[in-house]
Amino acid sequence: MRTAIYPGTFDPVTNGHLDILIRAKELFDGVTIAIAADSMKTPLFTLEERMQLLMEATKDMPNVSVCMFEGLTVEFARQCGAVAILRGLRALSDFEYEFQLALMNKKIASDIETIFLMTQSEFSFVSSSAIKWAASLHAKVSDFVPFHVEKALMKKYSCPRTSEDD
Ligand code: COA
Repeated sequence: MRTAIYPGTFDPVTNGHLDILIRAKELFDGVTIAIAADSMKTPLFTLEERMQLLMEATKDMPNVSVCMFEGLTVEFARQCGAVAILRGLRALSDFEYEFQLALMNKKIASDIETIFLMTQSEFSFVSSSAIKWAASLHAKVSDFVPFHVEKALMKKYSCPRTSEDD
């Protein structure tokens, strides 16, 4: 079994994350989505909420599971017996941060590789922050997130409308 972990904050999961996941699950026997408790961000959704949103989004993907973890990503990858850390790259601007993170992880754990998948162009401008910002101003975000995530965002921002009402 060759498995990978896909770590991130996922606040919330977007269609961009899911695009990476759908392609990665064909490359590995299994993929574990790893929601980091120790990210440098202040999330809108609690860890449990992010986990629920991811579980719903991946319920039809049998070789994909969802976990939370604390501490180092590479340590969690080892605990899972994963051979790789999976990350999506959207643009040149992601490269510097991702390169630094990958090198840091390689230095700490030389046995774990970081694998990058290029995001499809239609998601290249998508980010969880941009989606939250748009949703907070009651913009339609149904092109960027699954319906249940849109609903969760609308609830957080007390907006009564979702794309289903159009
Ligand atoms: N399509 C669209 N958007 C994408 C995307 C894709 N394919 N891939 C990533 N993004 C966006 C996300 O929406 C997110 O947007 P945001 O910044 O507005 O929230 C951003 O790109 C990246 O977020 P995410 O993929 O969730 O990862 P992250 O950068 O928040 O996570 C960790 C970083 C969790 C991997 C890192 O903090 C970590 O490893 N933490 C554990 C501690 C550790 O080991 N640190 C490193 C060693 S010192």
